[in-house]
Amino acid sequence: MIGQGNSGASPMLALAPMQDVTDLAYMRTLTRIHCLPDFWVTPYFRSTRTTCAMSEGPLRCIMENPAGIPVWAQLAGSTATPLLRDAEALMQLPVAGINLNVGCPSPLVNRHGAGAGLLRKLPLLREIALALRAQLPPGAWSVKCRIGWERAEEFPRVLDALCDSHPDMLMVHARTRKQLYAGEPCMAAVRLAVRRGSCPVFANGDISSMEEARIWLNTVEPAGLMIGRGLVRNPYLLRELRGGSAPTAEEMQEYYAVLLEETGHHLERYTPSGHCNRMKKYLAFCYQDFSADAEYKLRRCTNPTEMGRLLQLARGGPNAS
Ligand SMILES: Cc1cc2nc3c(=O)[nH]c(=O)nc-3n(C[C@H](O)[C@H](O)[C@H](O)COP(=O)(O)O)c2cc1C
Repeated sequence: MIGQGNSGASPMLALAPMQDVTDLAYMRTLTRIHCLPDFWVTPYFRSTRTTCAMSEGPLRCIMENPAGIPVWAQLAGSTATPLLRDAEALMQLPVAGINLNVGCPSPLVNRHGAGAGLLRKLPLLREIALALRAQLPPGAWSVKCRIGWERAEEFPRVLDALCDSHPDMLMVHARTRKQLYAGEPCMAAVRLAVRRGSCPVFANGDISSMEEARIWLNTVEPAGLMIGRGLVRNPYLLRELRGGSAPTAEEMQEYYAVLLEETGHHLERYTPSGHCNRMKKYLAFCYQDFSADAEYKLRRCTNPTEMGRLLQLARGGPNAS
C-alpha cells in the first residue's frame, strides 16, 4: 500500500472514463482478472436540447455491471435544462450518481460549449453545477474537470465556480484544454483543489507507474488517484497500489487473452476484422511495451486468432524484458 491521503486513509482508486475504451468488455476483463477500481465513471452521455444520446457502450456498463462496483454516469452538455432532464433519467438506473464532464477537448463538443467548453463560460458552469446539486441527492454529484482552457492560472476561478455547488467528489485532469493529452500535468493546481478541502479530490493525468503514483500522493495528497491510459496498459497497477505485486509476464498474457475474448463477445455485429479493430483501441496504450516487430504485426492484424498468438508471443507489459 502506498501513500496516505489527507485523511490518513489509503487513496481511493478510480478508472478514468475513456470513450470506446472503458466499455463493458474492459469492465468484464478487469472483473475476471480481479483488478477492479473502487468505482467506475462511464464515458460521457451527450446531453443536448433535443436528446440525450444514450450510447449503448456506457449504458451497458451501468445495466450489466459484472463487477458490482459503484458506477457513476457521466454527462456532457452546455445547458442546465437538458442536463437536469438527463440526470433525472440516468438516476432511475442503477448508478451511484452523476458526473459532469468539464474536460472533453473535442472541437465538436467544445463548439457547442460542452466538455472543456464550459471552462470558457464560468458563470454558466456555476449555474449548471448549482442546478445539478439542487436536483441530485446527497452523495450523488461529482465533476471531472481540466484546470483551465488555456492556462493553469484559470484554475482558482474554475474551482470557485464548481465549489459553490459542493460537489461530493472532484476529479481533476491536471492539464488545460490547450494541452490536450500531452504536456506536463500541473500538480500545483490539483494541490490547490485539495487544500481548499471542500470535497475529496482525485488527481488525474499520466499516472502510469508506482513511482509516478508515489510522487502524486506525496506532493499533492489527494483523496484518490484516477488513472486512464496507464490502467489499460497495465491493470495490475491497481493491485500494486493496494500493496500487491507487479504483474508477471504470464498475468499480462492472461490480461491480453481475456480482453481479446471479451472484446469478441461484445461487438454489435461480429466480423474478424471488426474484432481486431476494436482490440486495437486498447492496444494503442500497450504498444510501447512490445517490440517494434510485434507492434508492426499487431497494427496490421485482421485475424483474431493470429492476434491472440501475437499477443502471447509478444510478452508485453511494463516489466517485460
Ligand atoms: C480515448 C480517450 C477517451 C476519453 N474519453 C473521456 C470521456 O468520455 N470522459 C472524460 O471525462 N474523459 C475522457 N478521457 C480523458 C481521460 O478520462 C483522462 O482524463 C485522460 O486520459 C488523462 O488521464 P490518463 O493520463 O490517466 O489517461 C478520454 C481519454 C482518452 C485517451
